[in-house]
Amino acid sequence: MPEIRSYRPTDRAAVADICVRTADNGGDSRSLYPDLDLMPSIFAFPYVDLEPELAFVLDDGERAVGYVIGCAATPSFARRWRIDWLPRVPQYGPLTGPPETPTEQMIGLLHNPERLVIPEVADYPAHLHIDLLPEYQGAGHGRALMTRLLNTLAAKGVPAIHLTMLTANTPARAFYDRLGFHHIPVPGADIVTYLGRSTSV
Ligand SMILES: CC(C)(COP(=O)(O)OP(=O)(O)OC[C@H]1O[C@@H](n2cnc3c(N)ncnc32)[C@H](O)[C@@H]1OP(=O)(O)O)[C@@H](O)C(=O)NCCC(=O)NCCS
Repeated sequence: MPEIRSYRPTDRAAVADICVRTADNGGDSRSLYPDLDLMPSIFAFPYVDLEPELAFVLDDGERAVGYVIGCAATPSFARRWRIDWLPRVPQYGPLTGPPETPTEQMIGLLHNPERLVIPEVADYPAHLHIDLLPEYQGAGHGRALMTRLLNTLAAKGVPAIHLTMLTANTPARAFYDRLGFHHIPVPGADIVTYLGRSTSV
């Protein structure tokens, strides 16, 4: 039976692999973003490197097969992203013009951590990402990972958490609804949906 445990630096490659296999609207992103470090450099590595105490993995006995990762305070995380994280990924930009390809759109996100800080989520200071390899989905592991993160945040005194998801990812939306997340209206949000909840389980 797979077990949930804290992230270790030796999980980094497995976490990157999970990220790329789930980063295209919940599915495999390798054909869309052929550079296999790009999506992890935006959606996984900043979290496990800057805030490893909020990173948990599902371990099948051989490797990480799922994760939940997050940060406790989004505004300070965005500042550390700019100061501490961007210098570690000089191979990705910054862009010299408007983004034209999917890869360039992602590099644009990488260089704009301030996009994470919006007034509508100010009462939900933490945020998260959760992904499992396909063969481990639908078996309760996502709920267990989320519970572990929520309990850790609550113990730190963080009252609430939000996430940003692609609106088209309807299976993920059903999961978050089931776990008690509610919609946070954000003017102009269309392609993405903001959800939030208390950290009290
Ligand atoms: C979304 C994801 C993290 C959910 O994890 P999971 O392990 O598959 O979900 P669980 O089995 O723990 O399900 C928890 C609850 O949500 C419900 N649920 C999960 N997926 C659902 C779906 N597609 N439709 C309806 N309900 C769903 C389950 O029935 C379960 O309900 P219960 O605990 O009350 O019985 C996982 O499927 C995943 O990694 N998907 C691909 C990547 C992705 O889309 N990540 C989110 C990006 S925003």
